[in-house]
Amino acid sequence: MQAGLLPAMGRPGAVGYCATHASHAVKTIKSYRLPGKTAFQSNSNRNDSILDPPEKALLKLSDNFLDLAPDAALTATTPRFINVYAGKSPARQAASTARELADSLMAPEASVSPKYFYNTLGSRLFEAITALDEYYPTRTEAGIFAAAYPQMAQALAQAGLPHPCLIDLGAGNCAKALALIPYLQPRQYVPVDISVEFLKGAAAQVQNNFPALGIVGVGMDFSAGLALPDEVQDEDRVFFYPGSSLGNFQPEQALQFLRQMADPAQGKARGLLIGIDLVKDAAVLQTAYDDALGVTAAFNKNLLRNVNELLGADFEVRQWRHVAFFNAGLSRIEMHLEAICDLTVSWSGHSRRFLAGERIHTESSYKYTVESMTELLRQAGFRQVRHWSDPKDWFAVFWAAV
Ligand SMILES: C[S@@+](CC[C@H](N)C(=O)[O-])C[C@H]1O[C@@H](n2cnc3c(N)ncnc32)[C@H](O)[C@@H]1O
Repeated sequence: MQAGLLPAMGRPGAVGYCATHASHAVKTIKSYRLPGKTAFQSNSNRNDSILDPPEKALLKLSDNFLDLAPDAALTATTPRFINVYAGKSPARQAASTARELADSLMAPEASVSPKYFYNTLGSRLFEAITALDEYYPTRTEAGIFAAAYPQMAQALAQAGLPHPCLIDLGAGNCAKALALIPYLQPRQYVPVDISVEFLKGAAAQVQNNFPALGIVGVGMDFSAGLALPDEVQDEDRVFFYPGSSLGNFQPEQALQFLRQMADPAQGKARGLLIGIDLVKDAAVLQTAYDDALGVTAAFNKNLLRNVNELLGADFEVRQWRHVAFFNAGLSRIEMHLEAICDLTVSWSGHSRRFLAGERIHTESSYKYTVESMTELLRQAGFRQVRHWSDPKDWFAVFWAAV
């Protein structure tokens, strides 16, 4: 088997695959591809000794993800996709989004939730960020996964979850799940994201790679609640929440969110696999959110375009500049947009004046320690908490059972 043939067979997305890896990957993928067979077959083909060293995992996940075979694209079915509007009609959902945006823009200290970074362009810009030299989280997390997939699979099996319903919160391009699926062999894969059109494409790509895997894509804002559609299996739910996205919540909100996951009446989680960025040197953190190419700046400013679209506002993107810094007292990166001149923004009969230098707070990204994260998980009702980290202790992946 040549490594070059791997995409045509549908590879598991794990990075740095060599030829030996390729045969392992193909065996695993085939177990998903055989028509009429279950999506999860015996994993006796697994050979843990052929795992990539972490440094090989520094390749770009999104490159892997896009490198799909044309034949796969022709043969796969489109996965089921469900939009969830928190019990509202789409029109009422749009109205409540507009209200939320207007309220936060009119507050004395204007802000916009980071969930509004993610229209389709925002999702693409985030993918580009993950390829930047400065943005260590994605490749560091990938290295941790690459070194520990078998142990993670074992931890799930020991918790009685050998074939979980894998719920990928904020799945984005699904690249991380693509790599994880061959190891966890889920009975169902449920990518969830607010960036609906982008997710649809990504979920279809996962289906291309794993035609026999049951996939239900869910377009929803999970900050409004974690009630998933009936099509998502209740049994053996494992939430997958990589990329340190939990850090976007204030710590108290993060605790509530984790509690919702663990709640048998809501998220119904039996376990959680979560990636968390750790406290480190402020310069490393700051550069990761203020790269030399200005990709993060573009990502931040694109939020204004999304607000224009969702609220009918008239933000002029060129009148704003990107600001990012580490707030050590609060252990968080902050991103803001700063007005470069006096200006007025208007929408549907309302307006707000911003003076030069005034800011809109667009993101907080809280950084945890292993101890503080372990404590947060315990407080939320998780137990058997364990973690894996990289040699520099820059990032950690936690497994916690309910
Ligand atoms: C930082 S990206 C992480 C993407 C991917 N999981 C990874 O680790 O590379 C955050 C993802 O979460 C999604 N997201 C952010 N807030 C959300 C919300 N409230 N509800 C649903 N999805 C959300 C975004 O669209 C985006 O795809």
